[in-house]
Amino acid sequence: MQVFEKWESEIRGYCRAYPTVFVSASNARQVDESGKSFIDFFAGAGVLNFGHNNPLMKEALIEYIQNDGIAHSLDMYTSAKRAFISAFAEHVLKPRGMEYKMQFMGPTGTNAVEVALKLARRVTGRRTVVAFNRAFHGMTLGALACTANSYFRNASGVPLEHVMHYPFGCDDPGGGSELGGGVGSLDYLRAQFQDPSSGLEAPAAFIVESIQAEGGVNIASKAWLQALQKLANDLGALLIIDDIQAGCGRTGSYFSFDGMDIDPDIICLAKGLGGFGTPIAMNLVKAEHDKHWSPGEHTGTFRGQNLSFIAGRIGLEYFRDDVLMNEVKRKGAVLRKFLEDLADKYSGHEFQVRGKGMMQAIDVRDGAVAKKISGQCFQLGLLMGPCGSGGRVVKLIPPLTIPDDDLNEGLELLAQAFANVLD
Ligand SMILES: Cc1ncc(COP(=O)(O)O)c(C=O)c1O
Repeated sequence: MQVFEKWESEIRGYCRAYPTVFVSASNARQVDESGKSFIDFFAGAGVLNFGHNNPLMKEALIEYIQNDGIAHSLDMYTSAKRAFISAFAEHVLKPRGMEYKMQFMGPTGTNAVEVALKLARRVTGRRTVVAFNRAFHGMTLGALACTANSYFRNASGVPLEHVMHYPFGCDDPGGGSELGGGVGSLDYLRAQFQDPSSGLEAPAAFIVESIQAEGGVNIASKAWLQALQKLANDLGALLIIDDIQAGCGRTGSYFSFDGMDIDPDIICLAKGLGGFGTPIAMNLVKAEHDKHWSPGEHTGTFRGQNLSFIAGRIGLEYFRDDVLMNEVKRKGAVLRKFLEDLADKYSGHEFQVRGKGMMQAIDVRDGAVAKKISGQCFQLGLLMGPCGSGGRVVKLIPPLTIPDDDLNEGLELLAQAFANVLD
């Protein structure tokens, strides 16, 4: 580890929480140099929905490379891209009756958000974007302006402008509800925007995670999302849904907002979209907005990664039927029940359990406690990452493909970690 400490930047983050050197991984297990096997309840912060080294993807990637398939192509047409786009349309858009253009950009979530903001401002000719408390949208300046966490914001070095933050519409206790983000609060915002003497300019867009992941697993209520959609429509603003972490099947359906009866103008995807852990980002954009782009106006050398197209297409095949999503619901219920039992066991602490599908969390209401639990998990052989305000939320996002044995063993390790810290 001395090599990292001597040569790698102080910015190092996760490796401080998981101080070992990993060498291999398979599905929901990661193995370090000493041969210790860890159960992965973190899944690359929501990237590895289909597991580490998913065998179907591995096989397809090896075959593609062996046949000298195109690895890099900027945004030129390739057979890999065609197959991916067709599969996305077939398995995700058409069954939902959704009509969107697919825009590829630099291959990270923050790039997708930057592009969404740029387009919303272009389409509306306005500057202000409304983002929400506890939101996480990325680290580049435009996206960072929408991210709420002051630790990240303070690193910007320049003012983060043209974004106003407003309470998130979560009904769950602890998930932001104490900040007052009910449906009624949107009425207040509407009144402000509609009053010509409020001092507020009409916004270009509202950007929101229908389930805030890094913000502490806060789930927007259906009523609030619908009211937000209506407010955006009435103000002539765009609704941007950032489904970068909660999308791609994580919550038991392809989009985390499925069933919410909303109709976003732009949907940002990244993380799990590439399937294998190789990077890719994509926005789904309503055609009437997409036509505001001129060719090549927003570029990116790595927009559209062919290896991600190859593995990502295999990932999309999981949405051909309900098999995986039913498994996500079943295993999500197992996670949920376990966390609820844990909260009952420590009822004096008033822990709160929140989540949907296989993004489940227990809010231990104290960042220092969550950090100790996470440290204990690591010692015991379980990887997971705290999130939320002050890092007080223990978030569990295992690969969707995790075998039951690993899921149950991981939960036992989590219970042991709680006991080591709290008993
Ligand atoms: C909801 C959401 N949006 C955007 C991002 C930024 O993605 P990236 O780190 O790939 O830039 C993240 C990353 O965690 C995220 O969870």
